[in-house]
Amino acid sequence: MKINSSSLLKEAYGKFCIPAINVSMPEQVYALFSTAQRMNAPFIIQTTPAAREYMHPVILLNYVKAAARIFPDVLFALHLDHGNESHIYNAIESGEYTSVMIDASHDPLEKNIERTKRITTQAHLKNISVEAELGVLSGVEDHLNIEEENALYTNPADVEYFVKETGCDSLAVAVGTSHGAYKFSGGKGLRFDLLKDIQERVPGFPIVLHGASSIDSEEIKRINATGGKIKEDAKGLTEEEIRKAIPYGICKLNIATDLRIVWTRVFREYFQNHPDQLDPLKPGIQYIEELKKLLEKKFEILGNSNTT
Ligand code: G3H
Ligand code: 13P
Ligand code: NA
Ligand code: ZN
Repeated sequence: MKINSSSLLKEAYGKFCIPAINVSMPEQVYALFSTAQRMNAPFIIQTTPAAREYMHPVILLNYVKAAARIFPDVLFALHLDHGNESHIYNAIESGEYTSVMIDASHDPLEKNIERTKRITTQAHLKNISVEAELGVLSGVEDHLNIEEENALYTNPADVEYFVKETGCDSLAVAVGTSHGAYKFSGGKGLRFDLLKDIQERVPGFPIVLHGASSIDSEEIKRINATGGKIKEDAKGLTEEEIRKAIPYGICKLNIATDLRIVWTRVFREYFQNHPDQLDPLKPGIQYIEELKKLLEKKFEILGNSNTT
């Protein structure tokens, strides 16, 4: 059953975490629904504007609709990830999305509030949940001084005001992660001090973590052993950090890169080991199986199994 994301996040808050999995391909949609049905695990399936435009948004949405028919027992939300106003109005009009993110965090605070508020007003008319973002997820680089660094993190002092003014249903925060494979190249991990401060300002309010892939170093080694050139300092969230973040109110964890890493490894190894082959379905089947294993492990860490 498809529901909005606020209901999922409310249920999870403080106890477990809802995986928010970025999809762009049918293999990913299928592996996600099939694993969730088997493990009785609620999830958020999300599409970025880039994933929607890869072919045609209707094609991607129909993969999701078909999977929901094939696996009727799953409980999920369909979320637009990193949208601007025009993406969001399209998503609302499609009648398919139950949740949207307005990505206005690069704007100054008041502008971010104004844009977010306009979206929540529209989305809530249709019972669609709204995720907003405060703080910039650009990844803290070594060359930044402390002041420049702090400007990127979410300022806990703004959080209560922002949430109240915008009426958003969940808040994405910048607390040390970044998108992609090189999250903590400066050696800094998740800022639990900030997370604690944020939670104390808005107790019980759902907090979202973007850039939450784990970046398995074994996978990176296998990619590089088959001709890849991913820097070996690629690093993401540890299992311990994820478990520890849940009581701080992190109840939605965004994951895209971990799925791409498995795709790259499976296809590289397959064609390296089978240079005479041309059939994409062979590594494709393996990709689906490997994704199921990856997702099963994620669900175990996040604690969302058997909670529907
Ligand atoms: O934060 C979102 C993703 O990591 C970027 O995905 O290439 O589908 O926009 P995309
Ligand atoms: P990763 O790049 O860590 O997978 O983050 C994905 C994300 O935040 C999507 O919004
Ligand atoms: Na942003
Ligand atoms: Zn993101």
